[in-house]
Amino acid sequence: MTKSTTLDTDRLSEGELLSRLEADLLPKHVAIIMDGNGRWAELRGLPRIAGHREGIKSVREVIALCLELGIHALTIYAFSQENWNRPAQEIDALMGLLEHYLATERSSLVQQGVRFRTIGRVTALPPSALHWVRTTEQETAHLDKLILTVALSYGGRSEIIDAVSQIARECQRGALRPEDIDETLFQNYLSTSDLPDPDLLIRTSGETRISNFLLWQLAYTELYFTPTLWPDFRRREALLALLEYQRRDRRFGRVFSAVSPQIGL
Ligand code: FPP
Repeated sequence: MTKSTTLDTDRLSEGELLSRLEADLLPKHVAIIMDGNGRWAELRGLPRIAGHREGIKSVREVIALCLELGIHALTIYAFSQENWNRPAQEIDALMGLLEHYLATERSSLVQQGVRFRTIGRVTALPPSALHWVRTTEQETAHLDKLILTVALSYGGRSEIIDAVSQIARECQRGALRPEDIDETLFQNYLSTSDLPDPDLLIRTSGETRISNFLLWQLAYTELYFTPTLWPDFRRREALLALLEYQRRDRRFGRVFSAVSPQIGL
């Protein structure tokens, strides 16, 4: 595994950043905590929803870059279980945005070959938002250029508890024995069972927490924190994150550096 030397990235154009990416060192699965929409809006004297709306433009750009680079999976944290505690007005506005995004852009997702799927307790969503979620999941189910997983009403601990209780029920009815339970079996009960673990987690807005996102799956993931607010996280910022990822030594607990990012996934 070759490593890029330190780059003075500020002086480089997007094209130059792109040309420094090494195709065989790209992550296969990128996860993102899209944070800072509210602050982006407040800094401009705008309502918080304006930040969420602008954040959708960043979602579009990151999807486009994943497609361009052949990154196969993108998982984004759009609404956590804890987000239900926000003011009703903001929740309604966010659900309205989600509906609008899906209703207007699902044909573009189909055209681009993007499979849309969700993780989380989506049945908690208002019926009209759930309708568009299900419609988009169905209409894109056959596509595989990019697997776009949107975490909605998602919590990592709940996901683990759901897996544990399902395994316990299977043990109870005799379909599984406790001694059958290992990491491989356990991960088959998670909502991401058909995806490799994320290679790279990006969190924007300067916060350096995981916030109950993909707790099991992030065990060996490279973490990238940037002060950039999500609505400002566009193509250039995404390229910088990928370049930084390529400079990391992924050892998966081993002591040597020349391991493939595949090992341990
Ligand atoms: C965090 O910023 C962001 C969210 C809670 C919502 C993210 C949603 C979108 C970008 C739009 C919907 C997504 C799709 C896929 C249509 P924050 O409000 O916590 O920001 P703050 O920390 O500055 O207050």
